[in-house]
Amino acid sequence: LGLERPDNEPIYNYEPGSKRRKEVKRQLKKMKEEFLEIPVVIGGKEIKTDNTAEIKCPHDHSTVLGQYHKADEELVQQAIENSMEAKAEWASMDWEDRVAIFDRAAALLAGPWRAKINAATMLAQSKNIFQAEIDAACELIDFFRFNNYYLSQIYQDQPASSETEINKMEYRPLEGFVFAVPPFNFTSIGGNLPSAPAVCGNTVLWKPASTAVYSNYLIFKLLEEAGLPAGVINFIPGSGREIGPEVIADSRLAGIHFTGSTATFQYMWEEVGRNIKNYDSYPRIVGETGGKDFVFAHKSADPEALITALVRGAFEYQGQKCSAASRAYIPHELWDEISEDLIQQVEDLKVGPVEDFTNFINAVIDHKAFKDITEYIDHARESADAKILAGGEYDDSNGFYIDPTIVLAEEPDYKTMVEEIFGPVLTIYLYDSEEYEETLKLCDNTSPYGLTGAIFSKDREATVKARETLVQAAGNFYINDKPTGAVVGRQPFGGARASGTNDKAGSKLNLYRWISPRTIKENL
Ligand code: SER
Repeated sequence: LGLERPDNEPIYNYEPGSKRRKEVKRQLKKMKEEFLEIPVVIGGKEIKTDNTAEIKCPHDHSTVLGQYHKADEELVQQAIENSMEAKAEWASMDWEDRVAIFDRAAALLAGPWRAKINAATMLAQSKNIFQAEIDAACELIDFFRFNNYYLSQIYQDQPASSETEINKMEYRPLEGFVFAVPPFNFTSIGGNLPSAPAVCGNTVLWKPASTAVYSNYLIFKLLEEAGLPAGVINFIPGSGREIGPEVIADSRLAGIHFTGSTATFQYMWEEVGRNIKNYDSYPRIVGETGGKDFVFAHKSADPEALITALVRGAFEYQGQKCSAASRAYIPHELWDEISEDLIQQVEDLKVGPVEDFTNFINAVIDHKAFKDITEYIDHARESADAKILAGGEYDDSNGFYIDPTIVLAEEPDYKTMVEEIFGPVLTIYLYDSEEYEETLKLCDNTSPYGLTGAIFSKDREATVKARETLVQAAGNFYINDKPTGAVVGRQPFGGARASGTNDKAGSKLNLYRWISPRTIKENL
């Protein structure tokens, strides 16, 4: 019954002159020339509305990629009814047949769809080719394959029987439909949030992030091509404020699969709370939200490894990963050793559009992000408690560009040391190495979040001390590695506290949330 454990999808490099690079470039060009019309899709039917929004490149205001049609309340109702109709057949299908669809989706993405989905993620979410490849290609392929594998493991797990009785667990889907609400920052999460409940036999309403509709729609088309029956996932782009309350008010809401801001997640919990007496079952609420992820250096840390972790951990994808390093604790003596190199490396990061594959930093996602992030930078520039050591410049005349910025904070509770920024800003606090333990405690208490964090140390005792002190500060805790880049099947991802329900994306724990088992005892 159990499937074989899959291998992780290998990461391709797109070196100059390679066929793969040419293919991505071709796709980029084609997408910029074409205009993609993105409908609402309910029961396999494409619906156009008169309420549309333009899709532009974050790094190039002059390029329009297409437009998407927004679902209104009536269409949301249609989507819910359709999900309920599609449910019976989907839930009773052999699980092997469901799994085969997602296996085909993985193969399509690994092969013919790879360059297209990467190009879409590059253009519409402003990711460089490497960041697109590890996300939209590798991570999503891994999600599809590992969900299948873990589901087969869950189904194998059966209770004990005896000569007088047979006991059985039926791993049924939830009763009702699931609402999937992914973020803009990972195309893979866009694809996984609807797919994980779906492979377990649920039907799903997928509301993509407004800033990632383009790549998410292509994933939806890929799933259709892989054989996903109409109505199993209904695609309903639009305004969260309109769609959210309408979906959550429905008595058949069985679960929410969310990744995004803490505020939105809290709002959803409140809405579910307000409606709690109306539901057929208690909805499962699974969410991964914000973070204030840290890198903590002990004085024994390897300087080179630490610099690399800070540069990549803080600035890859412009710091817009929920896992991005955004505060660092460094002892004075180590700082003296690394500061010059660190600042130089950050200043050397190339900023520009995704079409030039040598650019490390591209644009932040939209005007709101640009405004919020640059306000933090201005605060640091004007504050007596902080100093900008690198970057600090920004320019939105052609695209939403912000230079990677390092802020040195005088106090450990300085604004940018504490608040989530979600952009290319790393704040550093220097501590006295004699006060290692106290500073670890400070790191633990500074933030309400608990998503990712890293300790850099070559001293075993110091490493153990960090692991013991920072118990809930990071659901993903890295020793001598950057706090980003969790790999499905290797570092199951998620955090607790204000960072979410810690149901670990791409793991068995996550899939269990989409299952409502029935235990059956039969006397012999
Ligand atoms: N899984 C991603 C990472 O680890 C964040 O969502 O960087």
